[in-house]
Amino acid sequence: MMKTSMNLMDKIVSLAKRRGFIYPGSEIYGGLTGFWDYGPLGTELKANIKRLWWNDMVYKRSDVVGIDAAIIMNPEVWKASGHLEAFTDPLIECKICHQRVRADNIEVKIDHEKTHKNKKIEWTQKKSFNLMTEVFLGVTQPKQKAYLRGEITQGVFVNFRNITDSTRIKIPFGIAQIGKAFRNEITPGNFSFRSREFEQMELEYFVAPDQKEAEKIFEFWKKERVEWYKTLGIKTENIRLRDHEPDERAHYALAATDIEYKSPFGWKEFEGIHNRSDWDLGRHKLTYKDPETQKEYTPWVIETSGGVDRATLFFLLDAYHEEGERVILKLHPHLAPFKAAVFPLLANKEDLVRSARDIYQSLSKHYYIAWDARGNIGKRYFSQDEIGTPFCITVDYDTLKNDTVTVRDRDTTKQERIKKDKLKDFFDNALHFN
Ligand code: GAP
Repeated sequence: MMKTSMNLMDKIVSLAKRRGFIYPGSEIYGGLTGFWDYGPLGTELKANIKRLWWNDMVYKRSDVVGIDAAIIMNPEVWKASGHLEAFTDPLIECKICHQRVRADNIEVKIDHEKTHKNKKIEWTQKKSFNLMTEVFLGVTQPKQKAYLRGEITQGVFVNFRNITDSTRIKIPFGIAQIGKAFRNEITPGNFSFRSREFEQMELEYFVAPDQKEAEKIFEFWKKERVEWYKTLGIKTENIRLRDHEPDERAHYALAATDIEYKSPFGWKEFEGIHNRSDWDLGRHKLTYKDPETQKEYTPWVIETSGGVDRATLFFLLDAYHEEGERVILKLHPHLAPFKAAVFPLLANKEDLVRSARDIYQSLSKHYYIAWDARGNIGKRYFSQDEIGTPFCITVDYDTLKNDTVTVRDRDTTKQERIKKDKLKDFFDNALHFN
């Protein structure tokens, strides 16, 4: 079957809603632009991405510790970090209908111009539009103005001294964090790609103020992060690194490279690697004293900043596969929401259901397992393939005779008979968890 690029996006949006990955936010009230809710399967997929990231970035490294900072911080943080002044997008306004769009988004501009058929469009001059989302705290007037964090990063920097004082970590070291960020985006769109509320997974890696050393670490993280996505299944031809031009860089970045995905709407960023030099710690007037040399200095920072929502969307797009009428999400087993599904061959045969339930309960102690007793086996396979479940286990009459079940592989559709008491070992091995 031919599938055009835009078709693919439509198919993912429809699958995401139908099977419980991603729903429009506040849908029963007409939705709210730029906000999305994750359903049962989307929540699992996102949780798996975050868990794998934390495993690799924190648990497997002795030089990284974690933090979970507050979303709302003293507004002085944002003044010092430069966000109140410089965290902006360029905006232009259509002089016919007064709709505002990002000046740097050519596609949106062209699409908008098409809505005014046969009319000559004029746009206003570019204006800078601040992306920070304001909130008001307390009950007495005037309420205290604060901001929802526009990047999770500043919570790491303002705790730099707390972390060096309360742990034994020494430079070079990293602080990892996962959490929500908010941006008052002018034109949210492309499904969950550009949202106003999203999640980031970030590492801030602190090094001595030595340009050569910082560049070496910057190169290291570029390679490491691209490999991470590839190991989890992103196809080599769909991922690339792209260096920022000097006029594209955020106000804090001395150098920046995006990890981009070849999406149906073009090559798009889903992680940024930044050399933030001593910008942030310098602005917060924070220094580090080397415990051996007693030399005091402002460390430099190399940052890896990934978007959990964009990774979720791109993993879904990359995994989507059709074979005739069959839709298969070929998600890496570590990402798949369910690791296996258990079926009794027939839902009305008590012996089969009891035996299948036993298997379901014993495997559920180790893995997230689906149960399905509806319809026929073919429909159940079809349904599990569409959500990326790597294996389906069927309990049939032979199970009652010889304690074996069929295990069917999502990608090859091959089936093999396995002893019930060997299933845990089989999955440990096949899912690469051991
Ligand atoms: N601390 C650095 C920082 O925030 P960024 O390049 O602005 O850098 C990092 O953002 C990542 O956050 C992006 O690569 C993207 O995955 C995600 N992100 C940024 N804005 C987003 C938005 N409006 N919607 C969804 N994800 C977004």
